[in-house]
Amino acid sequence: MARSAVDRQMARLREAIHRHNHAYHVADAPQISDAEFDALLRELRELEEAHPEFASIDSPSRRVGGTVAERFEKVRHPEPMLSLGNAFGGADLRAWAERYRKLLPADVRPALVVEPKIDGLTVVLHYHDGVFVRGATRGDGLVGEDVTDNLRTVASVPLRIPVQPGGVVAPPQLVVRGEVYIGRDDFARFNDEQEARGERVYANPRNFAAGSLRQLDSAITAARPLRLLAYQIVATDGAVPATQWEALGWLRDLGFPVCADNYRGTDLEDVATYCEGWAGRRLGLPFDTDGLVVKIDSFELQARLGAVGNAPRWAIAWKFPAEEVVTRLCGITINVGRTGVLKPLAELEPVEVGGVVVRSATLHNQDYIHERDLRIGDRVVVRRAGEVIPQVLRPVPELRTGEERAFVMPVQCPACGEGVARHEGEVDTYCPNGSCPAQLVRLVEYFVSRSAMDIDGFGIRQAEIFVEQGLVRDVADIFSLDAARIEPLEGFGPKRTANLLAAIDAARRQPLARVLAALGIRGVGTVVASALAVAFCSLEALAGADAEALCVVPGVGPTLAANVSEWFASAHNRSVVARLATAGVTVQEAAREQSSGVGPLAGKVFVLTGTLPTLSREVAAERIRAAGGRVTASVSRKTDYLVAGEAAGSKLTKAEELGVRLVDEAGLEALLAAKPPAG
Ligand code: IVH
Repeated sequence: MARSAVDRQMARLREAIHRHNHAYHVADAPQISDAEFDALLRELRELEEAHPEFASIDSPSRRVGGTVAERFEKVRHPEPMLSLGNAFGGADLRAWAERYRKLLPADVRPALVVEPKIDGLTVVLHYHDGVFVRGATRGDGLVGEDVTDNLRTVASVPLRIPVQPGGVVAPPQLVVRGEVYIGRDDFARFNDEQEARGERVYANPRNFAAGSLRQLDSAITAARPLRLLAYQIVATDGAVPATQWEALGWLRDLGFPVCADNYRGTDLEDVATYCEGWAGRRLGLPFDTDGLVVKIDSFELQARLGAVGNAPRWAIAWKFPAEEVVTRLCGITINVGRTGVLKPLAELEPVEVGGVVVRSATLHNQDYIHERDLRIGDRVVVRRAGEVIPQVLRPVPELRTGEERAFVMPVQCPACGEGVARHEGEVDTYCPNGSCPAQLVRLVEYFVSRSAMDIDGFGIRQAEIFVEQGLVRDVADIFSLDAARIEPLEGFGPKRTANLLAAIDAARRQPLARVLAALGIRGVGTVVASALAVAFCSLEALAGADAEALCVVPGVGPTLAANVSEWFASAHNRSVVARLATAGVTVQEAAREQSSGVGPLAGKVFVLTGTLPTLSREVAAERIRAAGGRVTASVSRKTDYLVAGEAAGSKLTKAEELGVRLVDEAGLEALLAAKPPAG
C-alpha cells in the first residue's frame, strides 16, 4: 500500500472503531459482532506497528492500557470543581429554594433538573479540537491528578468527537465533568472473583472507582469494568446551551454517555414529589447512588446565584434515607490507632446495605457498646451512614438465644501486650506503649501524610513494611532509611527507592509547624501547630513550656496544654525529637514577625473550618496573620469570623449558635483586601 493509502486506511479504521465502540458502550446498540470488532482493532494494531509514524493520540488501540506511570502529575482545573450541600427531605429542599428565591427577582420560578447522584469518582475531561487530551481526578477541587492514560482505557470515554462523520462537532476547547463508576452487578462480580482469588475486595463502588483510576499501570485500569456518565460542561470556547437540560442533550449528541434517568421539573413542588418517588426506585438503577442532584436549569440563573464556600447555591443533593438491615455480630476485634486508642471493630456476617456488602463497622469505644447493650452473637441493626460508613445502631433483643456474650475490653494491648489505660473522664482506652508496632504503623502513616510532612510515595503500605522489617522503630528512623535496605523489599526497586528517599530528604526542610503537627500529639492539628510554632519557635522551647505559657497561645486550653506537656514528658518522645534534630529536620525556626496590630484585620479573631476551594488552611491562616488578625482553633464568643469551607462540621453549628459572622473564601478575600480600620 502507498504511504498515503496506509494513512487513510488507519484513519478509516480508527473512525470505524470509535463509532462501533460508541454504539456498544454508550448507545447500547451494537452494530457488529465482537469478532468483527476485534478484527478491526487487530488490523489497526498491525498497521500501527508497521507504521508508527501514522499512529495517533486518539487511537482506540490505546484503550488497552500498558503505560506505567511513576506518579501522577498535578492538573489545575479551569474552574473550581464544586461540591454539593445536602437536603434530607422535602423541608430541606424547600428551605434551599427559599434561600435562592431571595436572591432572584420575585416573579422568577426557575425550572429544575434532577439527576441521579452517581456514586463514583469525579473526572474532568479535556478535549482539544475534539481529541481527548487530558483527564484528571477532582483532587482538592482546584488541583487534581492527571490520570489521562487510565481514562483512555475506559470504554465509554470518547477519545474523539465527533464519534462519527457528520456528527455534532466539538468546540475547539471543551472541558467536561462526569463521574467514573462501576455498575452494581460488575462490582459484585469483581469482588466475588477477588475474594475467590484471595485478593483485595473493595468496600464500596466509590473506592473501587478511585482505586482503579489511580493505578500507576494503566493495563490494570483497562482490566477494570469502569464506565463514565457525563453531566457538566466545565469550560468551552464555543457556543454553549443555555440550560442544564439542553447541556445534557448536547453532551449526549457529542457522544458522551449521559444518564437515562434525568428529569426536568417545572417547579419546586413538582421536583419534591419526583424526589420522594425515588425512594423505592434507587435499587433499579444499574449503579450505586445515595441520592439525587437537583439543579436550577438556567445557566443564567446559576451564574447569578454563584456559590457559597464550596457549594453552588443553584444545586443541592437530595439524600435518600439510609437503609437499615439486620445481621449478626459475629465478633468484636480491636484496632490500635496512631495515638494508641483501642478501637473495637464489629465483625459482621456480610450483609448488603444499600447495594454494598458490609463486613465490619467501628464500634468506637467500650461505652458505645455498653450503652447499646451490644453482645457478641447478637442480631444487630446496621445502617450505612452517608451511605458509606457502616454503623451498628442497636441489637434486636427478641432474637437472642441466650448464647450471646458480653464484650469486655482487653486489659492488654492486642498488638504489643502492654497493659492498657483509660483516662478519667474519657471514653477511649489506650495502649500507653510508645513503641507498640500497631500504633507505630498508624503514627508513621500520619507523620508522612499530606497534612503533616507530606512525603510523596509513602503511605500505610510502606509504613507497614518498614515497621514489620524493623527499619522504622519511631518516626525519626524514617530519616535514616537507606537504599541498600529498601531496594530489595518487595514493590520497591531502584527508581521507586530513589524517589522515596528524595521525598524523605525534602521533608527535612518542612517548616516547624508541619513537623509539630506530624508528631501526632493529641489535639495538635495544623492550626494549633502553627500557633505553637509562632509562639515558641522551637521544639525545645515548647518542651520546656508550662501550662500557663501554653494557654496564652491562641486556641490552646488546659486540656491541650496538658496533652502537649504529657507528650514531651515521655523520655521516648524526647529522644525522637533529639534524633529528628540530628537528622536535620526543622526543629527550630527564626522568630516570625508577630502581628503588628495594623492591617485590615487588626485585632480580629478567626477560626477556619472545612475545606476552602482554593486556599489551604495554612495559607489562609498565614494571610490572616499577615493582615493583623489572629487564628484560633475553636469557636467562642471571642471569635469574630468563622471562615467555613466544604464539610464544615461542629464549628459551624457552634458559630451559628453564638451568632459568629460566617464568611466563605470569597468573603475572606474581601476582608483581606479591605482598607485597615481608621485610627
Ligand atoms: S453536580 C457544581 N451532578 O456528587 C456541581 N454531581 O458532592 C456539583 N455527582 O463530587 C456536582 N452525580 O462527584 C453533580 N449528576 C451529578 C452527579 C454529581 C454524582 C457527585 C460529584 C460530586 C458529588 C457532590
